[in-house]
Amino acid sequence: MGFQLTIPANLYGGSGSLHELSNILKKESARKVIVYTDKGIRNAGLVDELCKVLEETGVEFNVYDDIKPEPSYIEVEKIQEETKNAQADLIIGFGGGSVMDAAKLCSVLIGASYSVKDLLDTPQIAAKKIKTIMIPTTCGTGSEATCNAIVAVPEEKVKKGIVNNEMIPDYVILDPQLIRNLPKQIIAATGVDALAHAVECYTSNKATPFSNVYALEGAKLIFENIRQAYNEPENMKAKEAMLIGAFYGGVAITGSGTTAVHALSYPLGGKYHIPHGVSNAILFETVMNFNKDACADQLADICDAINPSYSDKSVNEKAQYVIDEIADIVKVTNIPVNLNEFGIQKDDLEFLVQAGSEQKRLLVNNKKELSKEDIRQIYSKVIG
Ligand SMILES: NC(=O)c1ccc[n+]([C@@H]2O[C@H](COP(=O)([O-])OP(=O)(O)OC[C@H]3O[C@@H](n4cnc5c(N)ncnc54)[C@H](O)[C@@H]3O)[C@@H](O)[C@H]2O)c1
Ligand SMILES: [Zn+2]
Repeated sequence: MGFQLTIPANLYGGSGSLHELSNILKKESARKVIVYTDKGIRNAGLVDELCKVLEETGVEFNVYDDIKPEPSYIEVEKIQEETKNAQADLIIGFGGGSVMDAAKLCSVLIGASYSVKDLLDTPQIAAKKIKTIMIPTTCGTGSEATCNAIVAVPEEKVKKGIVNNEMIPDYVILDPQLIRNLPKQIIAATGVDALAHAVECYTSNKATPFSNVYALEGAKLIFENIRQAYNEPENMKAKEAMLIGAFYGGVAITGSGTTAVHALSYPLGGKYHIPHGVSNAILFETVMNFNKDACADQLADICDAINPSYSDKSVNEKAQYVIDEIADIVKVTNIPVNLNEFGIQKDDLEFLVQAGSEQKRLLVNNKKELSKEDIRQIYSKVIG
């Protein structure tokens, strides 16, 4: 079977690359832009830096900073309603996955006759109305690289992905200065999310030769840099590697697809509002242990990429090394490893098993089929 990969066409990276925005806007002859962001990013002083570049460029701009973390489709509808008359000829998504997903959705919603709800049911009808520039300020989701937008669906208590190539960003800027002061716990959660993208995509049924290049290099960059990025705030080399690794993880998602870690994580975000990176981190080791026999060769490839001293070991030992590394990273970055910490008890198990088993879009990517009993055992292990 053939394979395909859609990636953003124009990439800028490195310290200070935020200033490339000026050249992009000139190239696009932009007169008016809208910036989507959130209050946390504004409070970190980053919106002021962006506005300075926009002022120096001489474009008119509006800033919409009221995007909530992990928004629902209803909240995205409100965002597009409140910004639809801005008459911007370019959209800038300046933030983490929540902001970028909302900005990408607005790029296909403003001026359209369909709603976000319509896109949940029929994503193929989306058509891009306004070009986009994505500038991540966290090092995790890789949303700047993907055609996906994730929204919460409160009435079903889950999160769902809307996927359409029309949402691929036109420009991406990866400036590590923007994550210089990113709080440690957000580096940890978003970094482990990026690692999950890379490892799941490499071990996915949908992996292709295109996606494998990005997944393997993304995994290597994150395995080798996440501890330094977490422990040494001023280590800009590690932070640049994390941003690039997260971007590669996103490219891998577009070419391949995540698997059971992300599938079982969605109900945790949808009903209990556990941050996306944290819910993935909680499940990561347990799901990879479950998958190990079916994915041992792929996990061994990852081991070869990150630990040459294991070259003489068996495939099984190499696979175990990668799983142990995942567990160690979650531990040393102090991410909670148990759902009890979020008030989830044994009574919640049946809801989780049912909602998890309905995540068919991603479960079909998992090399090993999961029965309801398998899913029950996985959630039981992390409820403690
Ligand atoms: N589209 C995709 O392909 C894709 C992939 C994975 C996840 N997602 C989605 O992305 C969302 C999660 O995104 P996220 O993990 O990046 O977190 P986020 O965007 O929700 O941000 C988390 C918090 O970090 C703060 N923050 C962001 N940058 C900061 C900075 N530089 N300094 C200080 N504070 C900062 C924000 O204000 C916010 O409070 C979820 O909804 C998830 O489902 C999308
Ligand atoms: Zn993710």
